[in-house]
Amino acid sequence: MWIYEKKLQYPVRVSKCDVRMAKLLIEQYGGADGELAAALRYLNQRYTVPDKVIGVLNDIGTEELAHLEMIATMVYKLTKDATPEDFERAGLSAHYVNHDKALFYENAGGVPFTATYIQAKGDPIADLYEDIAAEEKARATYQWLINMTDDPDLKDSLSFLREREVIHSQRFRESVEILKEERERKKVF
Ligand SMILES: [Fe+2]
Repeated sequence: MWIYEKKLQYPVRVSKCDVRMAKLLIEQYGGADGELAAALRYLNQRYTVPDKVIGVLNDIGTEELAHLEMIATMVYKLTKDATPEDFERAGLSAHYVNHDKALFYENAGGVPFTATYIQAKGDPIADLYEDIAAEEKARATYQWLINMTDDPDLKDSLSFLREREVIHSQRFRESVEILKEERERKKVF
């Protein structure tokens, strides 16, 4: 079970209304390497990994939900004062007529989220390597997003998220080593 704490993991501030940037940020909301995919991937894998690494998947899967909330807050703040014309100028007129200002699980190109972004092989090492790749891709995406904005407040929140992906990648790498060591020990009689 989860206990909800009514605050963001890290503050989210934006300097101005910017629908163009909101459109790009949605990549980390409903995209292949986004926070929803990450949270669902890790929380799902918990059931078939050895006990020693369940905690890591639990911790990181939960934290990804907190990151999803941060992205949603960024998009909300970037669009709350926007007009329909602002949406049109940002190439989001189709989104506007379908959802108004509501968020939708899609990527920056408007492709809806799909479970096919997530693999579950049932082999702990294979799954953890997928997790490491997911973290590295998320880190890269955050860097590309930082490069696309000149808003210092937004850059600050995105930099926090980028650094968390680095930590997650390291924790998954450690988990692989723990499982490999265990596998080697079992071969010694
Ligand atoms: Fe992550």
